[in-house]
Amino acid sequence: MESWVEDIPFERVGPVARAIKAAVTNPLANYLPAGFIRALLRFGKSELAAANWADPGGWRSMVISYDGRPKQIADKILVGSGTMPMALRNRRRLAGRLLARLIDQSSSNPAHVLCLGAGPGRIIIDALHEARRPSRATLVDISTDAFEYGLKLAAEAGVADRVRYLQGDVRDVQQMLDTPPDVVKMIGICEYLDDDHIVDIASAVAAVMPDGAPIVFNSLSNRHGTDRFFRRVFGLHMIHRSPARLQELMSRAGFGDFVSIPEPLRVYHVLVGRRMPAHAKPSSKGLS
Ligand SMILES: C[S@@+](CC[C@H](N)C(=O)[O-])C[C@H]1O[C@@H](n2cnc3c(N)ncnc32)[C@H](O)[C@@H]1O
Repeated sequence: MESWVEDIPFERVGPVARAIKAAVTNPLANYLPAGFIRALLRFGKSELAAANWADPGGWRSMVISYDGRPKQIADKILVGSGTMPMALRNRRRLAGRLLARLIDQSSSNPAHVLCLGAGPGRIIIDALHEARRPSRATLVDISTDAFEYGLKLAAEAGVADRVRYLQGDVRDVQQMLDTPPDVVKMIGICEYLDDDHIVDIASAVAAVMPDGAPIVFNSLSNRHGTDRFFRRVFGLHMIHRSPARLQELMSRAGFGDFVSIPEPLRVYHVLVGRRMPAHAKPSSKGLS
């Protein structure tokens, strides 16, 4: 699987920029008074900050980072050179490529991808566009808020007739599907959920997946160095978990044979697990 992602043009931080972030920018972001930073961001009309204040870590803030072309100067700095937005764009590229190749491996025609907590579906739209085999996606989200924007993105990518948006709690997924999923995507959601919630969701989806079918999800490490900033300034409380910890949770829901691939900043790992046959003992490889 590592060979699938070798040619991706990832964003990287050189040693000098990394040292400046560690010694100067991260401590300033983390320890300047939160009210002062919020005032600066309001003055700079930061859309990223406004999106997080309205819905911390919601799909709108993610779209601003994924897109990477903000209008306001404050956002050009935050989104263009902030470690977290760079890592998010790397995750978009990494997960999109893995999903496209997993679709290509499917024997179904068309391959059916189920997206959990999908938001507008930026990453699956990339993957449907890139995959060589016929494919379609069911995108489930508890809120309909992102669906109109998602349809616009799908139309721009020429895949509007291959996406279906459904409102619902992903734990009720058994009642929502017309056919079993060949691939399941759970990117950008685990870091907002507690352990029990992750196991509940993964168990619900495992119940509708064929044996051996892949699930794609991500871990989050605090290597971005700005968790204190996100908590104090954006009100964003993310849960950091290692790939091994997430694999343990996914094993409880019946997944195994894990492969774990980091993006170059090592803020995110994208993991692929397989639905294990009910009698098989989960195992793991590619641990990091
Ligand atoms: C941070 S956004 C990520 C969106 C998208 N996965 C991405 O990476 O761009 C998380 C999404 O999960 C949805 N969500 C959270 N819990 C959910 C649940 N139990 N069922 C369905 N959707 C849920 C939220 O409404 C939100 O749109």
